[in-house]
Amino acid sequence: MIQQDEYKQRRKQLMRIAGEDAVVVLPATPERFRNSDVAYPYRQNSDFYYLTGFAEPDALLVLRPGAENGETILFCRRKDPDKEIWDGPMAGQQGAVADFGMDKALDIAELDETFPELLIGRERVFYTFGLDVEFDHHLMNFINELRQSPATRQAAPDEYVSLDHFLHDMRLYKSRKEMSCLSTSARIAVAAHERAMRACQPGMHEYELAAELHYEFNRANCGPAYQPIVGSGDNTCILHYVRNNATMHDGDLVLIDAGAEYDGYASDITRTFPVNGRFSSEQRAIYDLVLAAQTAAIEVIRPGSHWEEPHQAAAHVIAEGLIDLGLLTQSLDDVLAEESYRNFFMHKTGHWLGLDVHDVGDYQVDNEPRLLESGMVLTVEPGIYINPNDESVDPRWRGIGVRIEDDVAVTSRGHKVLSKRLVREADDVEALMAS
Ligand code: GLY
Ligand code: MN
Ligand code: MN
Repeated sequence: MIQQDEYKQRRKQLMRIAGEDAVVVLPATPERFRNSDVAYPYRQNSDFYYLTGFAEPDALLVLRPGAENGETILFCRRKDPDKEIWDGPMAGQQGAVADFGMDKALDIAELDETFPELLIGRERVFYTFGLDVEFDHHLMNFINELRQSPATRQAAPDEYVSLDHFLHDMRLYKSRKEMSCLSTSARIAVAAHERAMRACQPGMHEYELAAELHYEFNRANCGPAYQPIVGSGDNTCILHYVRNNATMHDGDLVLIDAGAEYDGYASDITRTFPVNGRFSSEQRAIYDLVLAAQTAAIEVIRPGSHWEEPHQAAAHVIAEGLIDLGLLTQSLDDVLAEESYRNFFMHKTGHWLGLDVHDVGDYQVDNEPRLLESGMVLTVEPGIYINPNDESVDPRWRGIGVRIEDDVAVTSRGHKVLSKRLVREADDVEALMAS
């Protein structure tokens, strides 16, 4: 778990970047309802959680660097004993100060009266427009009111800076504690994948394997970081397949893409394995090729490599392999130049990983691929998907989809695979399924 002193350090760092004439404004994610009065499971906004560790809705963080009467202010719900009977404990203003290290906490119900004065004398507002349209309007109204009143006109903010750029750059570099959360998240996901592999039998449904994943997440006090993908047979070729309702047949592959969320931090792991425990020769050929591509991509991950290098390494191996198998007929140079491997490998080799499964952080700096640095965490996930209706390939290959995905931290010496305890080699997959 991330401790309060780390959240405090993050707020301090952001305030240093924003500067003394700034005010940072960040609302919590609103609670949303799925039907009638049944709410979706609440998930805090990742930026908000990164700066507070505060998981309640109806909250607003305001940072005022250098302010003598309170630099960090949290608006949150007033403690309500009647509501607590139904929904359990709330932090309230006292808890926000005592347990979440805020300088001050105010009642969110009194936002209209107490928020505008916090903007007075601050030139620049760090706020990301467009994410919470309702609050965008509130904020503009508050500022317009200050502008229209002769008493506050001079002291109203008049510059807006998106918070994303600075905050997301901070989030890209993981601290030691964040690395530990990401490792824990990966460890729980590894156990979930192992459980599903062991449980798999022809005749079961995809959702029965999904249930094994959820069981393992829940018993570790986690949920999934995203809806698990459990696709068998032709469904292995549907990249974001989440119906998970087909029967799994003898002779099919099944692809599971599933990760846990531990204290907000995601893992994102994919394995593909034979429903009956033994790869066919075609399945194995594609599997070994994807594995070789993944190994090549992981090998180039070290400080100083650039963001595109793992993808280039994977694409090169896959292009060569598809030619060797007769699935592509051009020369290697042509396949790479025209990217015709994209008929079979149509996504990128990875993305940043953190509080969001597709985590924040720029992939380009000054129009160049970003250089990898120690503390960054990314997925490495090449795949080959042979469309079941692709009449240009020999029928024996059709409907085979394989992705292998692991979570990799860039370290000062190179890299560390956070999910490395999960079997990867085809023989080891078969051995685990038989155990
Ligand atoms: N699980 C989503 C992805 O692999 O990017
Ligand atoms: Mn994934
Ligand atoms: Mn991924």
